[in-house]
Parts: sequence; C-alpha cells; structure tokens
Amino acid sequence: MTYAIQAEGLAKRFKETEALAGVDLAARTGSVLGLLGPNGAGKTTAVRIFATLLTPDAGRATVAGHDVVREAGVVRSLIGLTGQYAAVDENLTGTENLLLIGRLLGLQRRGARARAAELLDRFRLSDAAGRAVKTFSGGMRRRLDLAASLVGRPSILFLDEPTTGLDPQSRGELWGMLRALIADGATALLTTQYLNEADQLADDIVVIDKGRVIAEGTPDALKSEVGGQVLQVRPLAADDLVRTHALVAETAGTRTQIEGESVTVPVKDAELMPAVVRRLDREGIAVGELTLRRSSLDEVFLALTGHRAEPEESDQPDESAQATDEAGGAVGEHARERAVSST
Ligand SMILES: Nc1ncnc2c1ncn2[C@@H]1O[C@H](COP(=O)(O)OP(=O)(O)OP(=O)(O)O)[C@@H](O)[C@H]1O
Ligand SMILES: [Mg+2]
Repeated sequence: MTYAIQAEGLAKRFKETEALAGVDLAARTGSVLGLLGPNGAGKTTAVRIFATLLTPDAGRATVAGHDVVREAGVVRSLIGLTGQYAAVDENLTGTENLLLIGRLLGLQRRGARARAAELLDRFRLSDAAGRAVKTFSGGMRRRLDLAASLVGRPSILFLDEPTTGLDPQSRGELWGMLRALIADGATALLTTQYLNEADQLADDIVVIDKGRVIAEGTPDALKSEVGGQVLQVRPLAADDLVRTHALVAETAGTRTQIEGESVTVPVKDAELMPAVVRRLDREGIAVGELTLRRSSLDEVFLALTGHRAEPEESDQPDESAQATDEAGGAVGEHARERAVSST
C-alpha cells in the first residue's frame, strides 16, 4: 500500500540536538494524521523534511510514494504547507499575497485572480481582501495562511500548529475548513499541542517526544490504552477537597490529581470505586458527585510524556512580543520557503 505520507527511520540532528531519532509514521490517503508532542519534540523538523525544506540525516520520507529528497520537485508540486509562523507578507493585501503565490506557481493573471477571489471568499476574507495583512487579526492571518497554502490545489497538506494562538471560535472555524478539505479528498499531517484538536480532527495519532515515537494509534485506542478509565470525585463541601484528595490517593495507591473541585484518579481495578465510596463514608465526607469516565487525551499525554501539553498562547500580550520576535527572525526564511515551495 502506498501511503500519502510516510516516514521510515527518519533522523535529523542539529549539532548536539537529536531532533529526530528514527521516526516511523504513515498517513493513509484521505486521512488526517495528528503529530503530537511537547515543545521541542521534533514536530516542525519532521514537517520541514516532508516539505523538502530540510534533508534528513538518515531514513526516508515519501509523499504519495515520491522521495522527498530525490524527487523534491514532484513533492513540492503535490503539497501545501502552513508553517508554524505566518508566511504571508505583512505589507501586501490579502489579495496581493494570494496573487503573488498564484503567479509564482505559474498561473496566468486571470487564473491567479480567480483563484485568489475564490479562496478569499471560502475563508471569509473577501471584505478584508484589500487591506494590508498587518491590519488583520490573528485568526484572519491564520485563515489567509491556510488559503495561501491551497492556491496550487495541493492534495496533501502539512499543517504545523495551524490554530495555535487562536481563540476557541476561530479555532472551531478553522477545524470546519480543514474538515471540508479532507471531505474533498485531501490528506493532512497536522501537528498540534491541543489534544482536543487531535481528538476532533485526526484519524490516527503519533505522539513523539525528544525525537522518538512514544505512542501511536487512533484517538480512542490511545485513550483506552493508557489509563483506561478515570474516577472523578467531588466532595459536597469544597473544604473537604484536600482531605478527599489524601484519602483517595491512599485508597488507590496511585497518582491522583485535583482538577477544579474534584479529585481524579486513574482506575485500574474495578474494586477502586466501591473502596473509595466506603472510605469516604467512613471518614464522614459527603460526596457531591462521583463519576467514572474514559480518560481524556490530556491525561493520556500526561501519562506518556510526564507533563501536560502547554500550547504557547501567542495571543497573550506579554508572549506576543516573543512570538513576534521569533516570527520576525523567521520571516526571511519563510519568504524563502514560500518561494522554494512555489517553484
Ligand atoms: N535549525 C535548527 N538549528 C538548531 N536546532 C534546531 C533547529 N531546528 C530545530 N532545532 C532543535 O530541534 C529540536 C526539535 O525542534 P522542533 O522545532 O522540530 O520541535 P517542535 O516539536 O516543532 O516544537 P514546538 O512545539 O516548540 O514547535 C529542538 O530541540 C530544537 O531546538
Ligand atoms: Mg514546531
């Protein structure tokens, strides 16, 4: 079987940093593969190799069966890339950005114009199309970025944290747009630190940490593989929370957590729930709520990597300076990337 996107033993080192240490992954045609991992896991490195912007030190990567190193030109003609940092030109308008890319891709003036108008309409940017991108909101920029990667009608998309920094509404809109693209037959590799995003969009998930695959499977399989079920206990009186936490931890003998007004604990033994109820009853703690649910992808991630996913919220004022710095540093590079991927 030929996968739309496939890597075998992919490795890349930057001086002493082993960004990828032998990664295998594959996405079936028409599916979404979620590539998850904490900061520095190697997600962007993998995407850049697939997008022919970096060459691997070892292993191989193919797009629709074409080797990304030996057949880089073919690969470029098949893919669309939405990078982690916006790649559109701030000083041009929305329309100008898309026209420029269309012309670089070899479209005639009229064809480029029609494609730009169509995409701007589809991404609800028609009203702002004549404004310089620097006046766009974060969500509008992200939508334009996605539109820019679609000018050449790619069937295989690489989306590197496409929704980082967006508010929940814009994120939901972008999810809808991605779903429509997939329904039209596209294949996507999506990196994200939002676990619910992977849960919502991905057919399969590969979790990497420090350049290695640490788990893979469908979102459901991952959820039931790690942790299984979670018992959630909320004491009736909020004052009892700390004591409830201690008692549940003692009864379960495993790691427990306080989440809001509840204590959560992974359930590995069917006896745990009745044991917790008896214990709390004996200690005179009234229980307001007791539920057994499947562990969330967040909990799976925590169990796998030892820490929670912490997306950078680039909308936050004090972090936006840093994000701008990074983006600024990368502008030249991205302009080059765009030019490269457009030849
Ligand atoms: N051009 C480079 N030069 C040196 N080190 C690099 C370079 N690119 C990436 N790295 C390092 O390789 C590792 C993997 O980086 P990568 O950007 O692939 O991670 P990531 O999973 O995309 O992280 P994030 O979630 O923060 O975007 C990191 O330790 C990073 O510092
Ligand atoms: Mg990255």
